[in-house]
Amino acid sequence: MRPGFIADHSRFLNGRPDQLNVEQQRSATTKASHSPLLVQIRLTLVLNSSTIPHRTILQSTTHYFSLAFLTLPEYYGFMKTHFISKLALNIIPLLLLFTWNAPADDGYDLWLKYKKIDDERMLTLYRNATSDVILPGDSPTLRIIRDELKGGLNGLLGTRVRFGGARAGTDALVIATPERSDLVKQLKTEGKLESLGYEGYLITTVTQGKRKLLIIAANKDIGLLYGTFHFLRVLQTRQSVDRLDIVSSPRILYRLLDHWDNPDGSIERGYAGKSLWKWNELPKKIDNRYHDYARANASIGINGSVINNVNADPAILKTEYLRKAAALANVFRPYGIRVFLSVNFSSPIKAQFEQERNRKGGIGDLPTADPLNPSVRTWWKNKVKEIYSLIPDFGGFLVKASSEGMPGPQDYGRTHADGANMLAEALKPYHGIVMWRAFVYNPEVDPDRVKRAALEFTPLDGKFSPNVFVQAKNGPLDFQPREPVQPLFGSMKRTPMMLELQITQEYLGHSTHLVYLAPMWKEYLRFDLFAEGPGSTLATVVDGSLRKTSMTGIAGVANTGNDRNWCGHFFGQANWYAFGRLAWDHSLSSEQIADEWIRMSISNDSSTRATVASMMMGSWEACINYMTPLGLHHIMEVDVHYGPGPQHNQGREDWRSTYYHRADSLGLGFDRSSVGSNAVGQYAPPLASLYDDINTCPEKYLLWFHHVAWDRTMKSGRTLWDELCGKYATGTNSVVRMREKWLSLENTLDPEIFSSVKAKLDKQVVDSKVWKDTCLSYFQKFSKRPIVGER
Ligand code: GCU
Repeated sequence: MRPGFIADHSRFLNGRPDQLNVEQQRSATTKASHSPLLVQIRLTLVLNSSTIPHRTILQSTTHYFSLAFLTLPEYYGFMKTHFISKLALNIIPLLLLFTWNAPADDGYDLWLKYKKIDDERMLTLYRNATSDVILPGDSPTLRIIRDELKGGLNGLLGTRVRFGGARAGTDALVIATPERSDLVKQLKTEGKLESLGYEGYLITTVTQGKRKLLIIAANKDIGLLYGTFHFLRVLQTRQSVDRLDIVSSPRILYRLLDHWDNPDGSIERGYAGKSLWKWNELPKKIDNRYHDYARANASIGINGSVINNVNADPAILKTEYLRKAAALANVFRPYGIRVFLSVNFSSPIKAQFEQERNRKGGIGDLPTADPLNPSVRTWWKNKVKEIYSLIPDFGGFLVKASSEGMPGPQDYGRTHADGANMLAEALKPYHGIVMWRAFVYNPEVDPDRVKRAALEFTPLDGKFSPNVFVQAKNGPLDFQPREPVQPLFGSMKRTPMMLELQITQEYLGHSTHLVYLAPMWKEYLRFDLFAEGPGSTLATVVDGSLRKTSMTGIAGVANTGNDRNWCGHFFGQANWYAFGRLAWDHSLSSEQIADEWIRMSISNDSSTRATVASMMMGSWEACINYMTPLGLHHIMEVDVHYGPGPQHNQGREDWRSTYYHRADSLGLGFDRSSVGSNAVGQYAPPLASLYDDINTCPEKYLLWFHHVAWDRTMKSGRTLWDELCGKYATGTNSVVRMREKWLSLENTLDPEIFSSVKAKLDKQVVDSKVWKDTCLSYFQKFSKRPIVGER
């Protein structure tokens, strides 16, 4: 246990500067969005945007024409006497009122919709349990809890929350830390709060005579906020509140969203609009959305945001930008979210030229960024000091160095550990951390790209300072639809390893394809690396239980942007949600997470839930099948990574599709067996031999580890070629079925959500066929066999 890191994190939860409360802001947003003055602007938007949902178009158009119609009469002095004009003058205001008050579900409220419960029995039970709310004390976080309860209970139960002391005899909800409540102090005395740590909570029921008290207890206010969100989730998902007995604390300490946002507002691999951060308005103007972003994250337990791209522009460390970051940190703090920055290793040097969006030039005046140079070390120390003077709870740095053209310690003949430790030294006095990325693939290290990170980093194991994480992607390549786990998680035995997942669907159909990612993340988390014998799953490495460390972390590359529905695709919200839930508790099943999300975001109706869940649960495997079945990888169109590009064979070798699939007249796949590149040798012995032998290698990884003959007999009894054809056909057929399922729900769903998802599914059906046809006709040139269908 490293108390410094944990204690530091919670220490800053109680210092929120004055700001509008969440409810005030939300109502301000709502009012603004219905303002007549915005009608014309909206219409312009409608005409220019295909992404604005139908109901909004209808409303806006009605508003616009109604207004125009109402102003015409006076202009012509004609309408007052005319029958039609009279009718219009009477009806149109009604029409206006009607349309004005029919808010469409544009997805903005995510899983926090709090729609009124229509089951009377449940309503009564829930209303009784919450008729009084006792929330003693005051702090910025407690104010957020109060607002959330007001909004949540008001929406779900249609009641006004009565805050204050409990009336004699009535049931009540008590939310408190031990310092503020004798009841909770008693729980503490009984040792029930011990396991909760700084962020955990318990929800329990205490009976006093005939009266039941539901208690949300935690050691710190942030735990109360997480507990409150959990309690509201209980109601949103219609669970019994009769005998709640929940104890929950996060299994992983650092649960971060990585935003690949650039200072110019663009987002690398972002498919949901521009950056949420309005860099040119900050720090003066605080967009309401920053609060809603933080609130959504807090509701799923995310406690940190890396606010800028790993391909970091050095400008982020200029005072001007630090002030902007500080303004965001002020908003996020009471929600338990700390700000982190991606930094450019060349920051201390003088910018001599602009290259690749200034990824190379610095902001300092030194001739070098050599991590062992005393002036460089002093530069970073001063910079860190400045950061903490503006952001006292600053989390630390994320660094992409000596990777994909980014500068790094290797430019000066130093190691990754030298670079990371220099930054760690500067951050240490403030309990900040370094997340040093292992996404490196220098071709000089090995001809096989997937081996390079492990080859570079394993010899450095044990050489990193204690406040350094090595952060690795789930697989050894690059967020492919499916990969085996990055073997570095097994070989780095003395270094805290942070897992990096990608929520944004760079290689999985952007925000156009419906792909629910929780089953994929679960496959990785359950992957047994055998690093310390059987049971060494990735989850146990990441949560620290395997190697007994409390320095634990997980990051997800965010899929958020300034699109009204945050994620571009409505179902992209499920991936943001699932990431947070798994980061908090990786033992949750993807089915459970999907069900929670569906209940809160779509419907509690059992048949609707079953249909949507079956779409979601099958969507990842469908995507693998129509893109890269049987272990194929990196055959997407170059750079964009959206459509198929198996023919791509230009430029840097390890960016070519042909380098990865290696199709020839004999067969298909990359030979990484012991007689090939021997990437199998990077895994612990049972896995190494399992993957090495073509007869035992799981077929889902077959073409990842082997070059397989076209006529090899697969487990199904079909040849590789026929199996490949079959997989592609299964993939496209699954998408067709997914769409049919969605269409069957037309009358039960919110029309706006229904039509936005339908439009995306229409495209996914077409895209999946393009994938199948392009890949099969390309590979057929080598296999010289007829294309067959699904069996
Ligand atoms: C991928 C992605 C890049 C990103 C890189 C990274 O290669 O395409 O846009 O910068 O990963 O994770 O650093």
